[in-house]
Amino acid sequence: MSDPNSPESLRAGAESEEQFLSPDDEIMSSEDVREQDLPDGEVEEIDVDLATVRPELADAATVAEIVAADRTVHAEVGEPLLRMEGVTVKFGGLTALDDVSFDIRRGEILGLIGPNGAGKTTAFNAMTGVYRPSSGRVVFDDRPLVRVKRNEITRLGIARTFQNIRLFSDMTALENVVVGTDARHRTSVPGAIFRSARHRREERDAIDRGMALLEFVGIGARATHQARNLPYGDQRRLEIARALATEPKLLCLDEPAAGFNPAEKEQLQELVRKIRDDGFTVLLIEHDMRLVMGVTDRIVVLEFGRKIAEGLPAEIRENPAVIAAYLGVPDDATA
Ligand SMILES: Nc1ncnc2c1ncn2[C@@H]1O[C@H](COP(=O)(O)OP(=O)(O)OP(=O)(O)O)[C@@H](O)[C@H]1O
Ligand SMILES: [Mg+2]
Repeated sequence: MSDPNSPESLRAGAESEEQFLSPDDEIMSSEDVREQDLPDGEVEEIDVDLATVRPELADAATVAEIVAADRTVHAEVGEPLLRMEGVTVKFGGLTALDDVSFDIRRGEILGLIGPNGAGKTTAFNAMTGVYRPSSGRVVFDDRPLVRVKRNEITRLGIARTFQNIRLFSDMTALENVVVGTDARHRTSVPGAIFRSARHRREERDAIDRGMALLEFVGIGARATHQARNLPYGDQRRLEIARALATEPKLLCLDEPAAGFNPAEKEQLQELVRKIRDDGFTVLLIEHDMRLVMGVTDRIVVLEFGRKIAEGLPAEIRENPAVIAAYLGVPDDATA
């Protein structure tokens, strides 16, 4: 990568900054932290001019091709990729998930909705190995996830984002994504220490792919910014890029639009659709009904740990049990 602090890059960065901040951005709720007073000793972040640094990434099709590195995992659209089979998760006396069964099909965007405390995040945690079901099982890609450790789950092909953003705040956006690609690396520790040719190649590939991923989610220009200096909406995008960096077959997003204004929600909806169109399968937990109805192919509804409905968005919208579940909670939970 060329030096982002060279005079050329600084000038190019200033120009791309103008393109990057559209008039819409000025009214967004996520403030551009860089525009605010930085604490003493902080360095102002400089945008990267991608056209100079990685000209090939100016082409959206090339970016999509790099992001969806292994298209063989996306075969057989419509077949079950993950099956929840009668999964029950208990916390002491509380049954957070009660005999829940549903499939996530390859190539779909499945919405998982329900009022606060319905068990949505618990379902994610059961899928990603955080909690072990007290009964039932999760089958992923024809393999039961029994006694599978969390890092193995990443290798098997499930990636997630968190309800509360989790990033390495002192690392740059690019470094955060490269950490995600590391989950795929094969090089041994001695290989890394002696910088074998293979290790160097993996490192270079990871950086190339990291840049493509940042561009894919729309924050390529901010590759060198520290994660904590990114506006909130960009942090959410970065989390998605990092999850995609593990080359998942299934991407689980837990309330990715929390705290977004309508314009940001619209952009997120486009991003989720783009991710699916690029060949990934997506599980989306989201409270915003308009977003869920607008982007998902099918929806599963939980209430008090039980599945109360499953179907197409139009069916779910009309479902009396779903309407009753949502009438029982304050408006702000469904807004
Ligand atoms: N680690 C835990 N220990 C004890 N109880 C828990 C734990 N995690 C979740 N619960 C409880 O399990 C139930 C389901 O919680 P969960 O977080 O899955 O709901 P949710 O549908 O994700 O809700 P929200 O929309 O508020 O995120 C809740 O009653 C919650 O308090
Ligand atoms: Mg939750």
